[in-house]
Formats: sequence, structure tokens, C-alpha cells
Amino acid sequence: MKKLRKYSFVLLILFIILLQFVKPDTGNPPEDKDKFITEHIKIPYNVYLKLEAACFDCHSNRTKWPWYSKISPVVYLIDHDVKEGRRELNFSEWGNYDRKKMIKKLDEIEKEVGEGEMPPGIYKPLHPEAKLTDSDRKIISDWAKTSKENLSK
Ligand code: HEC
Repeated sequence: MKKLRKYSFVLLILFIILLQFVKPDTGNPPEDKDKFITEHIKIPYNVYLKLEAACFDCHSNRTKWPWYSKISPVVYLIDHDVKEGRRELNFSEWGNYDRKKMIKKLDEIEKEVGEGEMPPGIYKPLHPEAKLTDSDRKIISDWAKTSKENLSK
């Protein structure tokens, strides 16, 4: 029995090592500076810093990949979130959105952040810098609201 347990453990370790050779590619897509959100709408610097700290990892092509995020199988979960996050909202590709879509995305930002839905709970324990206080949430959603209204004029 003891031997079997030892073998299973060795096999598990070998399996995890092998997994490291088959991983999704975590290279960030290239960024076209002209399409970055700041080229299209004004973002006060204090709001920008909050978005950078709390949102860019999943909603831009500027994702930071700490060492643990690249370990398989964890990397599959993170890569999935980043791809889905970018698909929903990508600050690096803001310039590809038409006015209607910009307004919709700003409206979603106002609501998601206002209601404390973003950043996702799973992300926060390892990213204390992404924690938003009530006043951080307010400045982000106020900015989104004002920008949305300016675009709707
Ligand atoms: C850990 C990754 C991650 C971080 C960090 C993150 N998001 Fe998201 N976000 C996602 C994913 C995944 C989705 C798509 C699934 C969903 O809606 O939950 C999403 C969806 C959204 C949507 C679209 C929601 C809808 O109504 O369809 C908005 C808007 C959004 N995020 C804004 C933000 C903002 C603003 C921040 C920073 C304050 C942020 N997110 C931080 C992963 C993230």
C-alpha cells in the first residue's frame, strides 16, 4: 500500500511536470497605440491609475503574467479569463469600437464597477493593488457615466 502511494505521488509529480510542456501561449497580442482608449476619450490620471491597477490584466493587451500564472494547469484558468475579459472589453482595442459600442461599454463599466462586480472576487486576494475602495469605485463609475453622456450628445 505504502509503495502504491509513493508511486502515485511520483506519477502525479511527473504529470505536473509534463503539463508544463503543453501550455496556452501567454504572449500578449501587440498593441496599436492609436487604438488605446486614452487616444479616444479623456481619462483623468487618478482614474487611469485605478483602471490600470484593477482592470488592465484582463481588459487590455498589457496583461502582467506573474510567475505563478504561467504554471500549468493554473495557466488554463487564467488564460481563459483574460481571453474572455478581452473579448468583452479591451482598452487596447477601444479604437475599433464604434460610438454605439463605446457608449455601451462605458455604461457596463459604470454598472459593473458601481455594483462592485469588477474586478472579479477570485482576482483580488493575489492582487491587493486591485482592491477598490468605495471612493475608487465612485470615481471610476462617475468617469464612465460622464464619458458616456458626452458621447451620447
Ligand atoms: C481577473 C480578470 C478580470 C479583471 C481584473 C477585471 N475583469 Fe472585467 N471581466 C472579466 C471577465 C472574464 C468578463 C466576462 C465575463 C463576465 O461578465 O463576468 C468581464 C466582463 C467585464 C465587463 C462586461 C460585463 C457585461 O455586462 O457583459 C465589464 C464592463 C468589465 N468586465 C469591466 C471591468 C473593469 C472596469 C475592471 C476593473 C475595475 C475589470 N473589469 C476587471 C475579467 C476581469
